[in-house]
Amino acid sequence: MSDKGDLTISSGKKLYACGNKRPGIVTTSVPKCIRKRPRSSTSSTLHVSVGRSDATVLNPSDRSKVISVNRPEANAEHPTAPTRIRRIIDDSLHLSAWREEDLLLSSGVGKLARVKLSASPALEAKRLWAVSRLCRNFEKAVSIHLGSCWANTFEEFLLCHDGVDDPIIPGDERIVSFLHSRLHAKKVSSLAVEKIVGTLIPLVRRMREYINQSCEQVQESDILPTKIVVKKHGSRVKLSLNDTTVEVNAEHYEKLRHLFKLQTSYVQSGCHNDDDNNFESAAFALLCRYTAAQGGTFNTVAGHHAALHGAVFDVLRDGMGIDVECFASPLNCRWHRYCSPFVDTDATFGSLGSFFDFTPSEGSFECNPPFDEEYIFRTVKHITALIEAAERASKALSFVIITPHWPGKTSWENMAGCPHVTHVEIIPLREHGFLEGAQHAKQTQYRIASCDTSVVFLQSKSGRKKYPITQMFLSALRLAFRPHQELNQF
Ligand SMILES: C[S@@+](CC[C@H](N)C(=O)[O-])C[C@H]1O[C@@H](n2cnc3c(N)ncnc32)[C@H](O)[C@@H]1O
Repeated sequence: MSDKGDLTISSGKKLYACGNKRPGIVTTSVPKCIRKRPRSSTSSTLHVSVGRSDATVLNPSDRSKVISVNRPEANAEHPTAPTRIRRIIDDSLHLSAWREEDLLLSSGVGKLARVKLSASPALEAKRLWAVSRLCRNFEKAVSIHLGSCWANTFEEFLLCHDGVDDPIIPGDERIVSFLHSRLHAKKVSSLAVEKIVGTLIPLVRRMREYINQSCEQVQESDILPTKIVVKKHGSRVKLSLNDTTVEVNAEHYEKLRHLFKLQTSYVQSGCHNDDDNNFESAAFALLCRYTAAQGGTFNTVAGHHAALHGAVFDVLRDGMGIDVECFASPLNCRWHRYCSPFVDTDATFGSLGSFFDFTPSEGSFECNPPFDEEYIFRTVKHITALIEAAERASKALSFVIITPHWPGKTSWENMAGCPHVTHVEIIPLREHGFLEGAQHAKQTQYRIASCDTSVVFLQSKSGRKKYPITQMFLSALRLAFRPHQELNQF
């Protein structure tokens, strides 16, 4: 591990500069006090501020010491994000035309050119109704055994889908195996499990049937745009189509509009993002899809959508050249290029499609997958294949994977034992936090972590040479992860 790096770090009033390596970015050497700070340190007067993010404030009583960094201005082809949304989106990343093209060509969106890249608002409203109904019945069937955990379990139930029959509702076989493994783990008797399966499977089939029939009824004219009624109430925006209403924070609504406009400037999705009507229809369909995936209108948990702080993304961007999130949604992405689960609703907001269809040959990427063993297995398998291809081509490829620290669980041991791992950093429970999974819908934005987190670096040889994982970088990363609850009013 080397001690060199190029992050911006301030200690009190003194800025430790060691030269400008990239335009607009002040490069500094690390102060000794950071190098010497023990990994478990819980208090500090040091601050890290990189870019326009929600800066890491280590000593809230002394915010004046947070420094900012000058960034290059936007160019004409890259619309600037309004100041009011810069807390939740970093628009300082202007990818070169070459990088944009390379990302698109290696993405699901680029490869699956014939996939429909728009969703019907009417159909998404019906899917949301069906999933919400399923959620109510799931609660009735399992809450007696799982208590308040039922809601999180329902979200995990939806996560086990394979996307074959429906983008959200899992197939029968997966449902049966999910219910057996989850309920047996909670010591529910085999008889009770069979009863639950017997209640839920017919209902799931009816809901899938209902969605399929609705799908057939949707005419070409129902595909974007549809007239959506939009009402603003203070910091909230309500979007309605007939009797279905979805809500979002005004800040996130503006973020969606910005991503939509940006996508227009690339015109890669095949959609014509050219008027408000299109935007409102696309935003309504998107909100219905994610509300459904997060448990439905009846109960939104969104435990698997928690995001890293903006300050963590800034450290990853400046320290390792990371410019793409491998697991995201248009609601929680930090940058305008990201992978996400639903290409039909998300591509018009800049998504590159599913991470498992994304095959970049070089560059650096952030991966914060849903905290689920199967996802972690698949992610590591996919990354291993990509790094092996990069080794053969002598390309620099790096991934940073953020997961719960789960020693003893096979998915975690498999990841930590991967031959391409260059470093594993463990961040203790009390020393970090995240942005809420339902950040787009909640008033409070930040929460503390519920377990230790591991940050695992996987790199090709050239990737390791280009971006060695330095002590200075790791110190800045840990500072950026620190809990942010004091910033909960926005
Ligand atoms: C823990 S959150 C990550 C939030 C944030 N983008 C970050 O990186 O900190 C996991 C995200 O994975 C996304 N996701 C689920 N399946 C996916 C897939 N196949 N490809 C890409 N993203 C996916 C979900 O939409 C969810 O927002």
